[in-house]
Amino acid sequence: MHIKDSVVLITGATAGIGAAIAREIAPDGGALILTGRRQDRLDALKAELRPTGENILCICGDVQDRKFCADVIEQAVDTFGRIDVVINNAGIGHASHLADIDEADFKTVWETNVYGLAWLTQAAVQAMKSQTVESHTQKRGQIINVSSIIEDRPMINQVVYSASKAAVNHYSRGLRMELADSGITVSILYPGLTHTEFHAAKLGQKTGPLMPNAGIAPAEVAKVVRQAITKQKQEIYVTWYDLVFVQANRHFPLLVDRFFTFWTNRKKNR
Ligand SMILES: NC(=O)c1ccc[n+]([C@@H]2O[C@H](COP(=O)([O-])OP(=O)(O)OC[C@H]3O[C@@H](n4cnc5c(N)ncnc54)[C@H](OP(=O)(O)O)[C@@H]3O)[C@@H](O)[C@H]2O)c1
Repeated sequence: MHIKDSVVLITGATAGIGAAIAREIAPDGGALILTGRRQDRLDALKAELRPTGENILCICGDVQDRKFCADVIEQAVDTFGRIDVVINNAGIGHASHLADIDEADFKTVWETNVYGLAWLTQAAVQAMKSQTVESHTQKRGQIINVSSIIEDRPMINQVVYSASKAAVNHYSRGLRMELADSGITVSILYPGLTHTEFHAAKLGQKTGPLMPNAGIAPAEVAKVVRQAITKQKQEIYVTWYDLVFVQANRHFPLLVDRFFTFWTNRKKNR
């Protein structure tokens, strides 16, 4: 798929990975739809990327709201005539032991990371299915769902978040099978630790994070997303060591459980 001829929607474009993807692909010149809850951030990004505002639509709102998700797709199609790529990136982290979990936080994580992604995807798939394509080799659309390398790895103190990403994976893989002959590609992005606002923004326990606020630059993730669009990749890893981590989890889950239990306790006892 050529980005310059595409209409690309990015949720969670006001910070981190979403903003980096917008910066990576905006120079290509395709149409962009950027969403997030902070209007001032959307305005600033729009001014930075395309000062004349050409081919760029910012829509402020919360993905937890199903009507907002449907409206975003409707506005995108009304404005640009079609929707080619949807990047379901908006997400929120959470830190707390399961025994101490707060119900409102639990719901927010789930409704943002899982429901929001599902509602937006549902509306996007309906729009994509009704789009015409010029040849059987041309793609009708692409959904890129942002998961995490910990989708298959519960981390102590972050189980609610990792479970939400496991749900994203199941949802995405199921959708991929259901849309197999539709011309719509379903891709899953598995970022590892990335230096964004994610750890500061997370809900729950604010002090003593077990994950340091470190990681690779979001621009690195954005480069990989560009390739995933142009090459229609379905399973997207950012670094080789992320892939090693995921494979270790799949093949030696008990060993990795033990490692993290030991590592966490060691940090606590320091
Ligand atoms: N950073 C990491 O280490 C890491 C690792 C693996 C996976 N990920 C995933 O990568 C994605 C992006 O995270 P990030 O690291 O870029 O975090 P970030 O810097 O905190 O950005 C999160 C984005 O999501 C938006 N968002 C959060 N809740 C929302 C809601 N209810 N409705 C609409 N937008 C919402 C935020 O915008 P507003 O606040 O303006 O709404 C923001 O633009 C997330 O899905 C995250 O789970 C991150």
